[in-house]
Amino acid sequence: MSDSKRQSDRDPGGGIQDPTAAGRDSKINDLIAAARAVREHAHADYSGFKVGAALEAADGTIVTGCNIENATYGLTVCAERVAMFKALSDGHREFRRMVVVAPPDAPTPPCGACRQVLWEFAGDLEVILANLNGETGRHRIGELLPQPFDRRLLK
Ligand code: THU
Repeated sequence: MSDSKRQSDRDPGGGIQDPTAAGRDSKINDLIAAARAVREHAHADYSGFKVGAALEAADGTIVTGCNIENATYGLTVCAERVAMFKALSDGHREFRRMVVVAPPDAPTPPCGACRQVLWEFAGDLEVILANLNGETGRHRIGELLPQPFDRRLLK
């Protein structure tokens, strides 16, 4: 099955495919650099675990986010959701992929809440995981969130 077919079957409306593979790959280093840079702005006093995310919108704009913790703990917002909410607030509606940078050697995939939010607004988004040394994994949200709940079920 082609990527575009899979996307149309599963995507609630947000995601798109980048038409050129060469274009996709040349920008990956920019996305990783942006995620690493914004990670330095993280408010992570409670966990000490700083995360940076870089979301590439359909027009090529890179929107970044870091995790922002709170003394009540439960109000913490992950880097992935900060990036997505910033992008939506700036008017972006279609997205190509997201890079997430976190310190561990092991791949650090998005939490469940972020998977749900990314599926809602970006469909079957590609998520590239990296640490401070380089890439650690690649996934699709549809793979990380099988059997999603979304608007199609609200009928
Ligand atoms: N965190 C993220 O920002 N993204 C992830 O993918 C995993 C976890 C944050 C939330 C919290 O501030 C800290 O990392 C520890 O869970």
